[in-house]
Amino acid sequence: DSKGKLPEAVLVGVIGGSGLYHLDNLTFIKHVNPETPWGFPSSPISIFALPSGTQVAFLARHGVGHTINPSAVPARANIAALKSLGVRAVLAFSAVGSLREEIRPGDFVLPTQIIDRTKGVRPASFFEGTSVVAHASFGDPFSTRFVRWLEQRVASVLVAHAGSSSAALHTDKCVVCMEGPQFSTRAESKMYRAWGGDIINMSVLPEAKLAREAELGYALIATATDYDSWRENEDAVTSADVFKVLQTNAALSRTVAATILDELHDAAQEGGILTEQVGSMQYSIMPRS
Ligand code: ADE
Repeated sequence: DSKGKLPEAVLVGVIGGSGLYHLDNLTFIKHVNPETPWGFPSSPISIFALPSGTQVAFLARHGVGHTINPSAVPARANIAALKSLGVRAVLAFSAVGSLREEIRPGDFVLPTQIIDRTKGVRPASFFEGTSVVAHASFGDPFSTRFVRWLEQRVASVLVAHAGSSSAALHTDKCVVCMEGPQFSTRAESKMYRAWGGDIINMSVLPEAKLAREAELGYALIATATDYDSWRENEDAVTSADVFKVLQTNAALSRTVAATILDELHDAAQEGGILTEQVGSMQYSIMPRS
């Protein structure tokens, strides 16, 4: 019962990837479009109310009409804009290619590691162009407690929908983030497998780095759309392959979001799942002598 409750801060921000341009079954409240020192976010941010009255923020990473290519996503503005609303936990979604036989198109993956194959053209730090030298810890690029928390919730949503979907959940995986916009060559795809990559996308970086610098909790729910290009005797990935699976994945992602957001809001309160992030930058800034 939300009657008589004061409006609370928006603690949870959802970033939607390819295919996920809106949430559903939530009450739309308003659009906000905060201008940050790094410009405007990818698109105006939608504020939604959950049935409990709790408000969450939603941002379409590539713009609502998917007009922004991965190299041009204004990741600093996106993270800064969410932070300016009071967001503490960012739940990001992304369509990914699979580098492993057992990760089938349609499956959900919660990565815990990243290999950076972006080409240095994306501004990847809030400290760039300032006189502050800061080295954020990034050994565990996702918020460990947040990811563990998600594992149980996502697993139970997939079990509850096992009748209509055969999506499996894979945990503790490594996502390769490539620059794009072209997909990988077959040789690159095989190399990423040899390196230990399990899935591949074009968007988790610099988003995850910036979330860390902003001391926000950050976790990625990846949904596989294709087998990339490593499989012998199989066609290499095309956009058409990706689009085929995108809608199904996005529908199930919306269900996951609608099911867990209320609980995530509660978990993002003081003393919840985000204890590793808060204050993490305190010793990252080099002292001046
Ligand atoms: N996003 C979805 N599928 C992908 C792939 N195969 N490579 C890079 N990014 C992707």
